[in-house]
Amino acid sequence: MASLAKPTPRITLFLFLIFTCSRFCKSTPDQDPTPTPWPHQFHSILVMNYSGILQVIDLWYDWPNGRNFNIIQHQLGNVLYDLEWNNGTSFFYTLDSSKKCSSAQLEVGILRPNWLDGAKYLGQQHVDGFLCNVWEKVDFIWYYEDVVTKRPVHWVFYTGREAHVMTFEVGAALEDAKWQAPVYCFDKNDSLTSIPVETMVDGVLKGSAVL
Ligand SMILES: *[C@@H]1O[C@H](CO)[C@@H](O)[C@H](O)[C@H]1NC(C)=O
Ligand SMILES: *[C@@H]1O[C@H](CO)[C@@H](O)[C@H](O)[C@H]1NC(C)=O
Ligand SMILES: *[C@@H]1O[C@H](CO)[C@@H](O)[C@H](O)[C@H]1NC(C)=O
Repeated sequence: MASLAKPTPRITLFLFLIFTCSRFCKSTPDQDPTPTPWPHQFHSILVMNYSGILQVIDLWYDWPNGRNFNIIQHQLGNVLYDLEWNNGTSFFYTLDSSKKCSSAQLEVGILRPNWLDGAKYLGQQHVDGFLCNVWEKVDFIWYYEDVVTKRPVHWVFYTGREAHVMTFEVGAALEDAKWQAPVYCFDKNDSLTSIPVETMVDGVLKGSAVL
């Protein structure tokens, strides 16, 4: 009979461990990390590389005002302004003597701050010298975020076009006057040379392509 009494403390310990674990092990799950939502306003300088063609982009993201600006400097070339409004209207223009402008009406507006929600976690990888968490969003973009600072470091589009994040100024906002598309964007005169929209949209972060 004594031999039956003996296992009791062990069973109690076992049950205690199960109980403790069910309460505390679950509260520290090894869940996949999720991407940090974009700050509602930021300025970023990006170095872009598309098969060796280099550009520097000044990115001004401004969610509260429903607008997003890509100012694209081609290497030893012109500067292209890609101004997007949350109502779906985009303007692509130059500010040089060529006075080129095109506008486009997209189905959706700019990227939401949480546009990376639901991205698939792929693990950690060293990129541009930073240890990053990596996610993939609908076979469209691969996104690399610094493990420590949670800032974006790098992203790659399905086209192979890649962005290297050089600066990331949270809260920085471009003055209102700079968001005004030039008057020739509103000129219906056919003699104006327009920029083919398809060539501009490729590889630039567009809400329509991810949502
Ligand atoms: C740009 O990307 C190409 C591969 O597409 C690579 O060979 C080249 O070294 C890159 N250039 C720079 C400046 O990163
Ligand atoms: C969207 O907003 C911009 C900036 O206010 C404006 O220029 C454009 O005409 C608007 N587009 C539509 C379709 O309302
Ligand atoms: C259109 O542009 C041409 C060349 O700049 C100019 O001669 C013409 O008067 C313009 N037409 C209108 C309706 O503005």
